[in-house]
Amino acid sequence: MKYLKMNNDLSIPVLGTGTNTFGKENNIFSGKITYDTLELLSAIKLGYRLIDTAIMYRNEAVIGKAVKESGIDRSEFFITSKIPADKEYTDTDENVEKYIYRSLKELDMNYIDLYLIHFPLESNEENLRVWRVLEEFVKKGLIKSIGVSNFNENQLAYLIKHSHIKPVLNQFQSYPGKHQQSLIDFCKENNVIPEAYQSLTKIDDKTKDILIEIAKVYNKTWSQVVLNYQINEGLVVIPKSHNKDHQFENIDVFNFELSEKDIEIIKKIGS
Ligand SMILES: NC(=O)c1ccc[n+]([C@@H]2O[C@H](COP(=O)([O-])OP(=O)(O)OC[C@H]3O[C@@H](n4cnc5c(N)ncnc54)[C@H](OP(=O)(O)O)[C@@H]3O)[C@@H](O)[C@H]2O)c1
Repeated sequence: MKYLKMNNDLSIPVLGTGTNTFGKENNIFSGKITYDTLELLSAIKLGYRLIDTAIMYRNEAVIGKAVKESGIDRSEFFITSKIPADKEYTDTDENVEKYIYRSLKELDMNYIDLYLIHFPLESNEENLRVWRVLEEFVKKGLIKSIGVSNFNENQLAYLIKHSHIKPVLNQFQSYPGKHQQSLIDFCKENNVIPEAYQSLTKIDDKTKDILIEIAKVYNKTWSQVVLNYQINEGLVVIPKSHNKDHQFENIDVFNFELSEKDIEIIKKIGS
């Protein structure tokens, strides 16, 4: 696995697994929690160590259970969770604190590697207020790194300017067809790691055909081309699959190099 150094000098794997439908009945986002750890244990066995969860996914306890069942030391994992922006979670500092403690309890871990504000709140000032609470948890050693998700350039710039602890990362939707290149560039200019979600699932059929053609040259699949491209662009990726073969495919993306020409073709898709 390759790692990137964050702006607080800690390291993050460049590739991990999403989990938003893991441990749920029929693998449906809103499905009942089954506590089934099969998909996650399969990913861990294949070498995934970054695991992306969130309070909204309701499966932090499933993640914690799988990590224990894996028998691999906690320190080898990089666990991300997120606090929702909704008032119920963020209207007071006490509520933010309460829900962070709840994440720790659900995961059954004594620290979380990365904690994100899942969506921006209604104003920059409100984002900063919640951020201050997250900063306190870093000082307490209960969270190692803090970041944001779905923040635009303006929201990120405000936080960078006013924070005591800079956000290490911004997680947002990015895939060929909607790279969000200016946000990627803004993150990189500010030493904030861009992390892509939905790298695969949102790609339309026409784009997939282009990617399949490119992939043939490297004897790879379209999904491997996408993930290799994004990692090469400096993004952290968190593809999710319930299928062992896809999980393997998605982590087996480090042993080829896309040509400059193909990189340009992929970059231009959707622009
Ligand atoms: N911060 C946010 O607001 C936010 C929003 C959405 C998601 N996320 C995070 O990002 C993670 C990833 O996003 P996502 O799960 O929505 O989408 P994704 O990872 O782009 O795609 C998942 C879908 O792609 C399929 N797939 C995976 N690998 C494949 C392969 N090699 N070949 C063909 N199909 C493949 C999977 O089906 P199979 O199971 O059949 O392989 C699944 O249906 C989430 O799980 C979550 O952790 C964050």
